[in-house]
Amino acid sequence: MKTEDVSLSSGITKTENLPFVWMSQGHCPRGSKPRNTHYKMEKGIDKEYMADNLKENDIKLLIEKLAATHSLSLEEYRRLIEGPGKVQDREKFSVPEDNKTKNHPLSRPDDEAPRTIKTGKDRELSPVLAEKAVAVRKEIYGDTVFTRGLIEISNICKNDCYYCGIRKSNRNCDRYRLTEEQIISCADEGYELGFRTFVLQGGEDPYYTDEVLIRIIKSIKDHHPDCAVTLSMGERSYESYKALHEAGADRYLLRHETADKEHYQTLHPAEMSFDNRMRCLKELREIGYQVGCGFMVGSPGQTAEHLAKDLKFIEEFKPDMCGIGPFIPHKDTPFRDKPAGTLELTCYLLSIIRLIHPPVLLPATTALGTIHPLGREMGIQAGANVVMPNLSPVTVRNKYMLYDNKICTGEESAQCRGCLDSRMRSIGYRLVTDRGDVKNIGGKE
Ligand code: SAM
Ligand code: FES
Repeated sequence: MKTEDVSLSSGITKTENLPFVWMSQGHCPRGSKPRNTHYKMEKGIDKEYMADNLKENDIKLLIEKLAATHSLSLEEYRRLIEGPGKVQDREKFSVPEDNKTKNHPLSRPDDEAPRTIKTGKDRELSPVLAEKAVAVRKEIYGDTVFTRGLIEISNICKNDCYYCGIRKSNRNCDRYRLTEEQIISCADEGYELGFRTFVLQGGEDPYYTDEVLIRIIKSIKDHHPDCAVTLSMGERSYESYKALHEAGADRYLLRHETADKEHYQTLHPAEMSFDNRMRCLKELREIGYQVGCGFMVGSPGQTAEHLAKDLKFIEEFKPDMCGIGPFIPHKDTPFRDKPAGTLELTCYLLSIIRLIHPPVLLPATTALGTIHPLGREMGIQAGANVVMPNLSPVTVRNKYMLYDNKICTGEESAQCRGCLDSRMRSIGYRLVTDRGDVKNIGGKE
């Protein structure tokens, strides 16, 4: 049989009669399989193995294509997410009590329920993807990791997201709200520690009117004109976003949560809408913020098709920041019994997102550090380039419990920064004292 080398760095070769198969060049992904496998396949001896290899080759080609073009079709993203392993089982999904309606998509019998991604283990191609993602990231950001000082300003929220530990219906949540003085003093302390970006995050707490937030933003900017202020305060009106931007806010984080409208409605009560979330993101961009979107990996009911839509959305929206972390159940929410997202799939997706949009600011999140003791290090090694140590007063940290067992709730701010500093050094990276703005390579379309 004649073969023709198509010069793929993965070592894939193409035969004339078969599409793409692993040839006997020592690239066999399952070491135990015999060489010259393609010959055996042709004789129909090992059909299952051939199917596996074809699938693996398909994924390798998709990775090559993504790295070269930063774009895939929805169907290609889906195949990349499912990976070469066997299609996972359906995960049993029960609908939260307060979301049960006859036609609810998650009320269907199990065998009709959408197929969900289960564990993400068996991802042999993660290292291939991570290597490419890290190379791309290094080219743009070197070995630096940006830090943001996270100030969790309030756990009071008017919303009732089914996944979130500080949702309004959680009566066990011990509520708090930081005063303007407390927030400013957290920023002052952070400045001394080397932070040049402060992220003010909180529930949708009506106390923080534009007037209050404008005072806080202006005060931080007056004290520290060389710093960036990022807001993560949820959905607001165009006028409000504009006023806060004019007051000096530079960036806004608002995870889209899922790019699938139907899935969005299964994660949120009826008062919340996908269209409004998307409206906010578009307006934030229009006003001139550096904008961050993002989603939870393994949120209940999430399928490979949903994740493919998330990736396509990221490809088209080109966010400046993108926050992804595993979903982790909280004991006082309707999703208390749902399985957490996995480290493997989160890292796999971090690498894909880096390849989709190379300059994106991509945090290795606290949630990733919560599901695995080395989760944040692994996130950086998969292509992330931001960490967000906690600057909130120690007295409130264990009250901002979005999910169970959240880490970094006991340490002082200096300890938290020091801890992440040494974690990053241990893997050959370094935290920098820098605003950490997105690098504009080639400009936006
Ligand atoms: N209220 C603001 C908003 O809606 O953007 C910011 C706070 S909100 C708690 C920040 C993010 O936490 C959410 O966008 C969500 O993705 C994440 N989150 C909430 N509950 C979570 C959970 N159980 N597991 C993992 N992440 C969670
Ligand atoms: Fe409001 Fe989670 S429900 S921040």
